Amino acid sequence: MTSFPTPGDLGETLIGEEQIAARVAELGEQISLDYAGRNPLVIAVLKGSAIFVADLVRSIELPITLDFLAVSSYGEATKNSGVVKIVKDLDQDVSGRDVLIVEDIVDSGLTLRYLLEYLGGQQPTSLKSCTLLLRDDQEAGGPADAPVDYVGFKIPSSAFVVGYGLDAAQKYRNLRYIAEYRTD
Ligand code: IMP
Ligand code: MG
Repeated sequence: MTSFPTPGDLGETLIGEEQIAARVAELGEQISLDYAGRNPLVIAVLKGSAIFVADLVRSIELPITLDFLAVSSYGEATKNSGVVKIVKDLDQDVSGRDVLIVEDIVDSGLTLRYLLEYLGGQQPTSLKSCTLLLRDDQEAGGPADAPVDYVGFKIPSSAFVVGYGLDAAQKYRNLRYIAEYRTD
């Protein structure tokens, strides 16, 4: 029974707790300015962004509405097929709302592009996205080109990371910091 991740799987801390808190506060300030006078519908993509959005919305000084949706992306093999499935849909009506999608990490950008199209088809007044992490990949069509409006941190393209909501096989979401996860 060695498939269970152990603390030995954790690598370097990439982003510490205080660094995360400071950046989340900045994002909240920026969003508060950009949406002044409005009440955005903040949509968190489960499960990865649950921890991030909990801190982010408390840094936004506006009357927001919070909703959640969950997606599954059918694993690695179909990553390029564009198949993303909604496994838990919204409770709130998107039409006429200023919608802000909150993601944990934009990797290939597939999930985000899918959600922008899906929600964009439901007549929101505006539609923007915020991600805690963006994988820094300079390839054309890669995540660097993904339409993200607010980015917490860029991370190296090679790093698989866990913590602060992000998991490896459902583990480590509750770390207070973001660490590299060793897969070798
Ligand atoms: P995308 O559709 O390729 O952009 O994939 C985004 C999703 O893949 C994220 O919401 C995460 O659930 C997952 N993911 C991608 N990279 C990582 C990582 O380094 N750690 C944990 N989850 C990741
Ligand atoms: Mg995710």
